[in-house]
Amino acid sequence: MSDRIDLAALPHDFLWGTATSAYQIEGAVAEDGRSPSIWDTFAHTPGRIAGDDHGDVACDHYHRWREDIGLMRQLGTNAYRLSIAWPRVVPGGDGRVNEKGLAFYDELVDGLLAAGITSSVTLYHWDLPQALQDRGGWPERETAEHFAAYAAVVAERLGDRVTHWATLNEPLCSAWIGHLEGKMAPGLTDLTAAVRASYHLLLGHGLATQAIRSAAPGAEVGIVNNLSTVHAATDRPEDEAAARRMDGHTNRWWLDPIHGRGFPTDMREVYGVELPERARDLTTIAAPLDWLGLNYYFPATVTDDPTGPAPRARQIRRAGVPRTGMDWEIDATGIETLLLRLTHDYGARRLYVTENGSAYPDVVRPDGTVEDPERQEYLVQHLAACASAARKGAPLAGYFAWSLLDNFEWAYGYEKRFGLVHVDYRTLARTIKGSGRRYADVIRAHGARAERAA
Ligand code: FCB
Repeated sequence: MSDRIDLAALPHDFLWGTATSAYQIEGAVAEDGRSPSIWDTFAHTPGRIAGDDHGDVACDHYHRWREDIGLMRQLGTNAYRLSIAWPRVVPGGDGRVNEKGLAFYDELVDGLLAAGITSSVTLYHWDLPQALQDRGGWPERETAEHFAAYAAVVAERLGDRVTHWATLNEPLCSAWIGHLEGKMAPGLTDLTAAVRASYHLLLGHGLATQAIRSAAPGAEVGIVNNLSTVHAATDRPEDEAAARRMDGHTNRWWLDPIHGRGFPTDMREVYGVELPERARDLTTIAAPLDWLGLNYYFPATVTDDPTGPAPRARQIRRAGVPRTGMDWEIDATGIETLLLRLTHDYGARRLYVTENGSAYPDVVRPDGTVEDPERQEYLVQHLAACASAARKGAPLAGYFAWSLLDNFEWAYGYEKRFGLVHVDYRTLARTIKGSGRRYADVIRAHGARAERAA
C-alpha cells in the first residue's frame, strides 16, 4: 500500500510529524496559573458542544507528555507540531508573565529534543485569554498588539532550541467560524466583528512575525492556513460567481494580504465592511515568511445563495462520493492542487502540510487493538498526492498528520476521533492504531531509501 507513495520525490531531510493543539489535548485548565480562554467559556456554555464535552481533562497531556513523546518515538516521527496556550503564559492576555506556564513548554521542548524530535511551535491555536475577549477580543486592535508581545515572550524563552514558528493556526476559523457562523468560540454571528477580527488576526500575525524574529534570530517563521479547493455546483454563471466568492472567502482573503497583494477588492465589496486600516499595516501583514503551512481536509462544491450570509455561496452535499466520519468529502487531489497553487500563484519557497487527517468511528477489538482501514487509506492517498505535488515542483519539506492522539474536536467534543493513537477517555490509556503503524511503515521506508541514496 505504501508503495503507492513516490517516496523518492520527498527530500531526505523531510519532516515526518504529527500535530496537536493545546486546548484539544492538555487538560489541566486551572493548574499552575493558567487562566480561562474563550474555549473554556464556550465549551462550558450549555448546548455549544456535542455531549456538552469540554477540555478540562482532555487527554491529560499536561501530565502525560512524557508518555506521548514515547508514542512519537514508536511512530518514528522526527517532528511534532504543538501549540502554546497563551492563557498559560500570559494569563491576563497582556502584562504579567506566568513562569510556571513557560516552564511547562520549556520542559516539553527539551523532552522532544532529547528524543530527536524537531518542535514546530504554533503560538495561537484559538485559545484567546478570556480576559482579552472581555475587552473586545480580535475585533479590537489591541489584541493584535498583545499577541505580538506574548509571541516575543515565548520566542525569547524557547528560541535557543526552537527554530520552527507558526504565528496563527487557521485564522479563517477564528474569524469566520468564531465571529460569523458562531459555531466556535467566541460564538458570535456578526459580519462586522468577523471582518474586523480577520484584519486584526493578520495584523497580529505580521506584528508577531517581527517580534519572533527580533527575540530569536535564526527563527523560521510561517503561518498555517486551512485552504480548500472550490468547485461550482453547475456551470451556471451564478454558481461560477459563487465559487469565486467562496474561493475569496476561504483562500484569497488569507493568502493575498500576507503576500503583499492587499485584501482582495472583490471580497471587500462582498463584505461591505470598512477595514480598520492604518498606514503601514499592509506592509506589516506582508512581513516576509520562511514557509507556509497548509491544513487540508476537504474540497468544497458551492451554489449561489443570493439571500444567504456572506459570501452568499452555500456548500452543497454531493451524492455518491466517499466521506469521512465528519461527513467531509474525500478528495486527495485537492491537497496536490493547493500545494501547486501555493507554489505557482504565490511563489512559496518552502511548504509544510501542517495538518491532514480523518475521523472515523473506531472500534476497539476484544484484544485491545484498533484497526482503522479507512483512516489508513485516507493517509496513504493524501501522502501519495503530496509526493506527486513534490514531484511536480512543490517545495514540500514536511507533513504533519492530524492528529497524534484522539482529542477534543471543538464543537464535536470527543465523539470524533482523528488520532493515529486511540485514547480511552475513561482510563486515558493510549493505543497506537493501525494507521499509526502504517505511518511508521511509510516513515521507515522513506528513511531506508534516503540511507541507500546517501
Ligand atoms: C482543523 C483544526 C484542528 C482540528 C482539525 C480536525 O481545522 O486546526 O484543531 O480540529 O481541524
